[in-house]
Amino acid sequence: MKSIWITGGGGFIGSNLVFALQEEYPSACLTVLDDFRSGSFPNLEGFKGDFVAADISRLDWEGQFGGKRPDAMFHLASITDTTLLDQKVQTHDNVEGFRRLLDYLRPAKTPIVYASSAATYGIRAGVNRIGDPLAPANAYAFSKVQLENLARKMQAEEPSWQIAGLRYFNVYGPREGHKGVPASMAWHLAGQMLLGKRPRIFKHGEQRRDFVYVKDIVSFTLAAMKAGKSGVWNAGSGQPRSFNEMVDGLNRVLGTKLRPEYFDCPYPFYQTHTEADMSATRRDLNIEPKFTLEKGLDDYFQSGWLTRGRAKISTKKKK
Ligand SMILES: NC(=O)c1ccc[n+]([C@@H]2O[C@H](COP(=O)([O-])OP(=O)(O)OC[C@H]3O[C@@H](n4cnc5c(N)ncnc54)[C@H](O)[C@@H]3O)[C@@H](O)[C@H]2O)c1
Repeated sequence: MKSIWITGGGGFIGSNLVFALQEEYPSACLTVLDDFRSGSFPNLEGFKGDFVAADISRLDWEGQFGGKRPDAMFHLASITDTTLLDQKVQTHDNVEGFRRLLDYLRPAKTPIVYASSAATYGIRAGVNRIGDPLAPANAYAFSKVQLENLARKMQAEEPSWQIAGLRYFNVYGPREGHKGVPASMAWHLAGQMLLGKRPRIFKHGEQRRDFVYVKDIVSFTLAAMKAGKSGVWNAGSGQPRSFNEMVDGLNRVLGTKLRPEYFDCPYPFYQTHTEADMSATRRDLNIEPKFTLEKGLDDYFQSGWLTRGRAKISTKKKK
């Protein structure tokens, strides 16, 4: 791969992917496309490639690149704030961004891996398997279903074109702090705990999520490109873990002993269990998650990004 483009490379997962690509393909030309609506330039400290600051749902691709196309395309740009309720904006920016990108790449059939989401499955508790009916519960999830529909349509029209989608589950890890509210629970709970406060979670912390470490997500994304196949696969840990276990793991890495403060969930409905069935991913992409929650939190803490820029008050008692 001599030329690789990454949309959303200024964001959380995108920037982690950019650095993995920079390491694995040191002589490749990397180009990040991002309009920084939720990304952040410090995520790209040390990036040696090119950066195009543009909204990809409005970009004149031909005018910008004059017919040049990359050898591989990773598409992660998306509105990621699921609480943004404007259905038109969510759907326009996410879907038209992908449509324009596909239209531009079509003449060269540039292989593409794009980010879908576990949100496409909806709010039903239990194991999420590829082939399950999709039931988007918000405009963000709806836009991701549309990405998958568009990919399937294009793929049917151009059967030799590799278009691979990954349904990312609950991702946590370095370079997510810029996201604010949509950042992971690991990030938010650690922030409370570093201030010596008890981590606040909904009663009674036993709801489970498929928390997946960003390094595994990057590995799945690269594996999807290398596999040369089209389709959609789950990208999770395959191990649902509770919020209580998340707090235990954070107490361990931060050296704190803070018990959760439970409070009533204000929502009429709250998902009790998410879990990626990883069998198709294992079989087709030949890849396994490597990080348990404990290993992921260790790595996150050691990276320095879990505590970066955050005030820590001592939790030791004064004599
Ligand atoms: N983080 C998760 O847990 C998770 C879970 C499921 C799916 N995903 C998907 O993974 C991808 C990356 O998410 P993330 O967590 O890194 O979020 P993020 O918000 O940090 O990254 C998204 C990036 O895309 C950019 N962007 C958005 N719309 C754009 C547009 N129209 N033109 C140009 N740039 C645009 C943003 O500025 C940002 O840098 C997204 O597609 C997201 O939907 C993430």
